[in-house]
Amino acid sequence: MPALIDSLTLGRMQLANRIVMAPMTRSRANDGDRVSDLHVEYYRQRASAGLIITEGTQPSADGKGYCRTPGIYTAAQVAAWRQVTDAVHQAGGRIVLQIMHCGRVAHPDNKAAGAETVAPSAITARGDMFTEGGMKPFTEPRALRLDEIPGVIEQYRQATENAYAAGFDGVELHATSGYLPAQFLSTGSNQRSDQYGGSLVNRLRFVLEVLAAMNLVDGADRVGLRICPGNPFNDLSDDNPEETFSALLDAVSPMGLAYLHVIRMAAVGIDNIALARGHFDGPLIVNDSYDAAEANAVIEQGTADAVSFGRSFISNPDLPRRFEQGAALNKLDPATLYSAGPEGFIDYPSLA
Ligand SMILES: Cc1cc2nc3c(=O)[nH]c(=O)nc-3n(C[C@H](O)[C@H](O)[C@H](O)COP(=O)(O)O)c2cc1C
Repeated sequence: MPALIDSLTLGRMQLANRIVMAPMTRSRANDGDRVSDLHVEYYRQRASAGLIITEGTQPSADGKGYCRTPGIYTAAQVAAWRQVTDAVHQAGGRIVLQIMHCGRVAHPDNKAAGAETVAPSAITARGDMFTEGGMKPFTEPRALRLDEIPGVIEQYRQATENAYAAGFDGVELHATSGYLPAQFLSTGSNQRSDQYGGSLVNRLRFVLEVLAAMNLVDGADRVGLRICPGNPFNDLSDDNPEETFSALLDAVSPMGLAYLHVIRMAAVGIDNIALARGHFDGPLIVNDSYDAAEANAVIEQGTADAVSFGRSFISNPDLPRRFEQGAALNKLDPATLYSAGPEGFIDYPSLA
C-alpha cells in the first residue's frame, strides 16, 4: 500500500508526495488585493508539499469578505500570482488556487468602495468579523436576483481562466465554511423560491453550475472541490447536511474532478470521510488535525489518497522533510496568523 511520501496523480497533476498544504487565509495582500514578494517567499518555502492549495482568493470585488485577501480578477492580480506559481514550479512543487467567494460573510469595511455583499437570501449571518477597525457584526446581504446568478457563475469561470493564465496547475472550489456556495446549499441561508432554492435539487444547482463552468475552461481534471458536511462555521445551518452532501456528490462524481477535499470535523457528528467515499468516485484528500502517523495510516488503509495539513504547514515550511526524519515541529504563533507583514509568515525556520 502507498505511504504519505509516495507520489500521486490527481487528475492532470503529478504530485511528488501525498502531503498537501491546506488552503489558509493569511491576510497579507497588497493594495489592489495583489499578492506580494512575501507570498512568493511564503509559498516557495513550502514547495516540497506534494500540492499547495492557496489561501482563499476572491473571483470578484463583491466576493471579498475579509481584509487583505487576494483576488484573481484583475490583470495586476494575475501578474502577481504568476510570480508565486513560477517560484513554486522552479522549486519542483505544484500549486492550486482556491477560489473563495464569501457571499454574506463579509463586512463593507473590508471591501473596495462600490463592492456589494450578495447572497442567496437577505439573511444576515450571526456573528462578528475582523476589520482594521476591530471586530464588527456581519451586515445584511442583498439577495441576488435570478438574472444576476449567471454573472456570478461567470466570475468563477473567469477566475479559473485567470488562474490558468497565472500558471496554476489547477483550481479548487471552496464550498464550505459558510461562504457563497455553502450559503446556496444550506436551508438556513437559502430561502429562495426560484430554481436556486427550496427543494434539494434547487439548492444544489448553483454549485453544480459553478463546477460545470469551471470544468469547461480546461477540463474537470484540473478542478477540485472542498466540502465539510455539517460545518456550522459562519452561522451555516442545514436541516439535513448528510442528505444535501450525499446528493451533491452523487451529481458531482460523474464530472471526473481532479479530487474531492473533505474536512472530517469530528464535532459535527457526521462521518464525512465515509460519506465522501460512499458518494464520490475519485481521488480523496482528507483534512483536519492529522499528524504524520495518522495520515500515513489512512493512506496505507486506502481510506484517503492524500492528507492536507493546515496549521502545521504554517509553522513548518519543510513539513514533508520533518515527517520523513521524524523531526520535531515548530510551534504555531496564533497572534501572527492574520497580521500584515513578514512576521509569522516567512520567518518560521526550516531544519538546518
Ligand atoms: C489561519 C487559517 C486560515 C484558514 N483559511 C482557510 C481558507 O482560506 N480556505 C479554506 O478552505 N480553509 C481555511 N482554513 C482551514 C484549513 O484549511 C484547515 O481545514 C484547518 O486548519 C484544519 O486543518 P489542520 O488541523 O491541519 O490545521 C484556515 C485555517 C487556518 C488555521
